[in-house]
Formats: sequence, structure tokens, C-alpha cells
Amino acid sequence: TLLFTNAGMNQFKPYFLETDTPKSLRVVNSQKCIRVSGKHNDLEEVGVDNYHHTFFEMLGNWSFGDYYKKEAIQWHWELLTEVWKLDKNRLWVSIYKDDDEAKEIWEKFTDISPERILRFGDKENFWEMGNTGPCGPCTEIHYYNGDNIDGQLASGVNSLDEYREVCNLVFIQYNRLANGNLEDLKNKYVDTGLGFERITAILNNKKSNYDTDLFIPIIEKISDLSAKPYTYKSGIPHRVISDHLRMLSFSIADGALPSNEGRGYVVRRVLRRASRFGRELGFNNPFLSSLIDTLINIMGDTYPELLDKKEHIKKVLEAEEIAFGRTLDVGLEHFSKIINSIDGSVIKGEDAFKLYDTYGFPLDLTELLARENDFVIDKDGFDKCMQEQRDKARKSSSFNAGEAESEWIEISAKDDGSVFVGYDQYELETNVVKYKSVKNGFGFVLQHTPFYFESGGQVSDIGKISFNDNTFLEVYDVQNFDGDIVHYCKSEANKLKFNPVVTVNIDLDRRKKIMSNHTATHLLHQSLKNHLGLHVQQAGSLVDDKKLRFDLTHYEKVKQSTIDLIDEEVNKVIRENLELVISIESFEQAKADGACALFGEKYDDDVRVVSIDNFSKELCGGTHVTKTGDIGLFKIISESSISSGVRRIEAVTGLEALKVVRDYDNIICKIKSLFNCSDDELIEKTKHLIKLNKDNEKRIQQLNIDKILNDFKEKIDLVDEINGVKFVVYLPDSLSDAKSLGDFFRNHVKSNGVLLAGSIFDEKPISICAVTDDLIDKINAVNVIKIVGKGIEGGGGGKPYLATAGGKNFSKLKDSIDKGQKYILERIK
Ligand code: SER
Repeated sequence: TLLFTNAGMNQFKPYFLETDTPKSLRVVNSQKCIRVSGKHNDLEEVGVDNYHHTFFEMLGNWSFGDYYKKEAIQWHWELLTEVWKLDKNRLWVSIYKDDDEAKEIWEKFTDISPERILRFGDKENFWEMGNTGPCGPCTEIHYYNGDNIDGQLASGVNSLDEYREVCNLVFIQYNRLANGNLEDLKNKYVDTGLGFERITAILNNKKSNYDTDLFIPIIEKISDLSAKPYTYKSGIPHRVISDHLRMLSFSIADGALPSNEGRGYVVRRVLRRASRFGRELGFNNPFLSSLIDTLINIMGDTYPELLDKKEHIKKVLEAEEIAFGRTLDVGLEHFSKIINSIDGSVIKGEDAFKLYDTYGFPLDLTELLARENDFVIDKDGFDKCMQEQRDKARKSSSFNAGEAESEWIEISAKDDGSVFVGYDQYELETNVVKYKSVKNGFGFVLQHTPFYFESGGQVSDIGKISFNDNTFLEVYDVQNFDGDIVHYCKSEANKLKFNPVVTVNIDLDRRKKIMSNHTATHLLHQSLKNHLGLHVQQAGSLVDDKKLRFDLTHYEKVKQSTIDLIDEEVNKVIRENLELVISIESFEQAKADGACALFGEKYDDDVRVVSIDNFSKELCGGTHVTKTGDIGLFKIISESSISSGVRRIEAVTGLEALKVVRDYDNIICKIKSLFNCSDDELIEKTKHLIKLNKDNEKRIQQLNIDKILNDFKEKIDLVDEINGVKFVVYLPDSLSDAKSLGDFFRNHVKSNGVLLAGSIFDEKPISICAVTDDLIDKINAVNVIKIVGKGIEGGGGGKPYLATAGGKNFSKLKDSIDKGQKYILERIK
């Protein structure tokens, strides 16, 4: 339910909800957390103060139905005051408003003075992970880091910066449901969180987390590169950038990538914010990647993934910064224009939307700029524009809504559930557990099934369910819903009558092709790592009977020569006819043996490991060939980019590969016969043809220009002088090269001449004004073009003797030229 891990407790959710059992009832951990979305979003505070972060490490200790409030409180107090020796006269405690039990424990089992225990309400002392999930009342410990130790006030807790929350002890006893209600959990749990950056600052006697060695080297590097020294007052950009760098690097190392939705959009937003703060320090080019080495020096030992993914992180940051850099400056300019033209302090929703839509400014970035300038944004207006855009997008894509499904009709007891046995069985007799009618047919759950359900990128099997009256239904899709493997069959019937014992079989020919493609995917994955580097991670995959598709994290095009090497390596392994060994191992063991696990995938304690000799080892639930030789032939057919930092490779195997090769061959043969040439001549002939075509295009263009200039010359000669000035207004149909028109005019007329021309090119209005040198004191081409530019909803500029404009609204061209003409005439007369 979360885009990012936002607390130490997230991965323990199944224990709290009792859908899984912990191996130990007491656990201690340190957790990487990100708080930039959902219920816990600290983004606004970051950099403005000195103790909030988008990324931080949370230390915690846990009880899964074991010790409870008393121990948790006592032990934390002991840790803070006896082990770390924090001054008790600086510590404050908050408890939930009606948690008398906590109050009693604090008073009875610790030596905190009772007036330092304060009660707070839901907002401060009832902790929830998100909108749903495990939650409960909490007690927090706050530390006063101000200088006036005798002047501390209870009212400062949870309101003033000097009183800083250091730990939070949550007593998880409820589950928040989607309808908002609280449900009691069977057991009671302890979830504690202690901010590593904050405790580091306290133990080092620093008021700011940014003054600890977790941040100092990064901030120094930022100061060096920008030549803007860090001071607390001028240091918001330094703090924001050093914070965002950590969030970006860690999330990218863990597999996230900037994109336009979900998790990726959070990454993009944070990066764009960092870029914008970079501009404040004078960084006009990508700079984040030059801070990575410093970050790795600080954290690479503890988090080796940073080191492993170093190049990848750098390239992703750089590509994304370059892309945003293109619109950032124009966007900032546009923002200034907006606030300069506003009466009052509210930025219209549509203006904020334009910044979002055209210049890529995430709303929070515009909000930040607005705040800095004492403006607010009409968010409802923004949401409205957003909704309109979504509606438009939805209208253009059709979808099926509200598929009518009936309730399940139970047939036989599920016994040992619906079990997939299709690794080595392709046909069997089994019982129907339940079925229901779905759109265009029925869905069946069977006791045992040879049908692979769609998962891990592998498509589902298709096949047949046969009934004992010799009738059958075709299975076209198989999906797993929480352990129910549902077989979807097409049927025209409204009702079904059948004996629950059925024979099922999959389309084995198709399955074999899928197995071949799946095993080839593993070979490709390993070969990519061998040839491109260890930063290569699987970012998605699709395996069906036609081809395999593999998305990988990699920052640049994979060279054709590398593709050839990969093709060769995979085919070599195929020819070696290596045996696949499939085993069940503990997750720890498999990882220790170097098996590839996927980001974002949850694994059980015991995992299925697919090993291909010493070549590849992956955790995988998919179906595979028995020996690599079964694949026959492997051929990569395409390599492309799907988003920044992600490439896509498609390949085929077996007969399909042979077919691809043969088709290419046929195409080449046909081209050769068209050219009437041999293999060797083919490239040269093609090059020649391309060149010929280009030359011809150029000639046509030149002829066009010549023709326009010819017409133009006639027009110039026909125009009468006004007050001794030849003033030409010219509106040709399509003008691709306005400047050459201006140059031609000035060369041809030489003195006492003014040209104002307008045309539409590529559906956009353009305009040019040229003035002979002797007249520029009287008529400045730039001034003329500004009038026209504004009229066509664009802008322009140039030199006093020659200026050009472009705009957006061609229907205004004629009017705008008239205005320019009027301006010129006034000056001539
Ligand atoms: N879950 C609580 C928090 O995040 C304590 O770990 O504050």
C-alpha cells in the first residue's frame, strides 16, 4: 500500500496482521526510509529546518506479541540516559491522551520527573503507517537542544524546533481498515523508531543533523563546486541538495527510476526540486552526479548497493537533469511572468498547470516558488485542469467497465487448495473446487492444475477442461488471486451442469515455446551482466510463446557489437547443452550463492532456484527447458529505450528465431534483385541512393527559395516609395527561411528600404522585419518585431536591422502584421 518504505515497521506488517509468523519475537533493525508521499511527507520541511529529511535511517526494536509497554519504555529510557548519557533535564515525554497505563509506567519505572510527561491527541500520539494498516497509541521522547536549559517550557514540546522528537514507541494494537474503522489485533506489538541522523547530532552536540559527518562532506563538496560557502542562513540549497541526493541515490540503487507516475514521479519531483535549488547556487548544468562519490565515501561501506550501482545512479541522474534543464530556465522565466502579472497573491490553477504540463514543474516545486515569493496556488483550480486532461486521455482510450461476475459456486472442499503441479505434469484428472460465471464465460478453480498462471513475466498457459460427457471448454487465461488459481474459459452457456471430476490439459506445443523463451531470458540476463556490468537489473520482462522481452536498467544504447557478443554467448551456452538444475533453497543460502533476486519482489523463506550450470542462477517460479540445447537458436531482434535509464531487448528462440533469420534473408534477396546487385554491393548501392535523394531534396529546396526570391524581387520592384522609402509588406504562403529573405531584401534595396513579412510555416506564424542601415535610427526592426511577436502570441528579437518573431496563433498573423505596418508607416511619414 506504500510507494516507499516510510517506517521501520513496514516489512513487518504481515506479522502484525498475523498473516505470517516471525522467526523471532524480538527483533532489532536499522531501516532505510523515505518520506515524500502519503501520510508521512516531510518534503516541505526539508532544508528549511535542520532535522527533517526525505531519506533517513530509522533504528528500531520490536516485539511481536512478546514484551510490551513496560519493557519498551524502561529500555529506551535506559538506552538514552544510561548508555548514551543524555541529560535527563533535557528530555520530555509525550503520551496518548488517555493512555494512563503509559503514564504510570513512565512514573513508576523510570526516573523522569512527572511534570515532563505530557498528554497529546491523535495527531501527535496515535501512529499510523498510511491510510490503512497496523497502528496504535504511542509515546515519544523529545530532546531539548536549546541554550536556555532553565527556561524550558512544556508548551515547547511538539511546537518549537528546539524540542526535537528523537524516539517514538508505538504500541500497535489495531488495524485501520479501508472504511476508517479500527479493528483489534489478536496480539499486542511494540514498534519503536529512533531517527539515526537526529541521535547522531545529539550525541555529537550539534544542533543540526547537517552538521554531522553524515552530511558535512557532501555540503563541503557542494560549496566547493558552486564556490558558495555554507552558512546556516544561506544554506537552504546546500541542505536540500545534500538531502535529496541521498533520497535519489538510495531509491535509484534500489531499482526506482524517474517517470511520470507513482514511485517514479516522486523520484522525478525530488530530482527537479534539487535541480532548481542547484540553479540558486549557480549550477546551470547537471551537477548531482558529481556528488555521488562523496556520498559513497560516507555510506558505501554500510550500503554496498550504492557502490554496485554507482555508474547507473550517475547516468540516471545526469540524463534526468539534462532533460529537465531544457525547460527549467524557461519555466522559471514563465513563473516570474506569472507572478508579475498577478493582482493579489493567488496563482491561478491553470497557470500552475501550464508550468506542470509544458515546463515539467511538479506542483510542489511551483508551490515552493510561490511560497518563496509570498504567493499561494489555487490548488482546486490545478486539480480541475489535471482532471480535465485525464478525462481527455480516458476518452481516447476505450476500456471495459463493470464486468458482471457472479458469486463463487462451491463444488467440492478445497482440501489442499488449488495447487500448481505443471512443472512436470501437462495433463491430469482433478476436481473442480468452485466456479463462477464471468464475462463471456466461466472461471474455474481446480484442486490440482498443470496450468501455469501468469506471473513473473511469464504468460499463462492455455488449454482445455474436459468434462466426462465428452464436452470441453477452452481455457484462455489463468490468474492467481490470493491462492485461488482461476481458469478462464469462453462459453456461450448461461448455466453449466457437470460432474466435478474433470480432465485438464495444456497446449503443450505452446508451453514448450514459452519454456524455451523463459530459459533464454535467464541466459540473456546473465549475458547482459557479463557484457554491460553488474548495474544491470531486470526492470520488467515478458515471456510468451512468440518472443521474450527483457527490460534492463542501463543508461545508454547497447552497441550493436555488444548485441552481437551477447547473441554469440547465449548461443554458445545453448550449444553446450547444459543441464538446468532446479532446487528449493533457503532465501539466505540462495542469495549467498549469488542468485539473482528481483527488486520489489517478495520472497518466501524457501525459494525456487533455477541454475544453469555455472553460468546463471536466478530465483524463479517459471517453467524451463531441461537442457539449454532445447532452445535451439537465440536471436536478439531489437534494442530500444523505454524511459531514461531503462532499455528494452526483444529476442526470439527456436523455430521462431529460424523464421526471423529466414525472413531477413528473403528481404535482403528482394532488395538485391531490385538493385540488381550482389551482397557486397548492396551497402554501397543503398548509400548512393540515400545520398542521391538528399541531394535532390536540397536542390528542390533551393529551387523553391529561388522561386520565392524571384517573386519577391518582382514585388519589391513594383512597390511605390512613400516619402522616399521603399516599404514592402510581403505575405508569401510558406516561408521556411525568413532570414534569407531579409538578407536578400537588404542586399537588393541597399538604402531607404523597410521590409515586413509574415508567413505560416509548419502551422506556426513567423515574421521578419528588415531595415536598410540608413534607416535604423528611425525604424528599429526589433521594436517592430516585438509588436508582431506579441500579436501572434509569441515573441522575437534580433538586431535593429533584422529581427524575426515566432508565435503560436496563426489566425492573428494578418492583424499583427497590420499593427507592425501601422507602426512603420507612422515613422516613415
Ligand atoms: N513506526 C513508528 C514511526 O515511524 C515508530 O517506529 O515513527
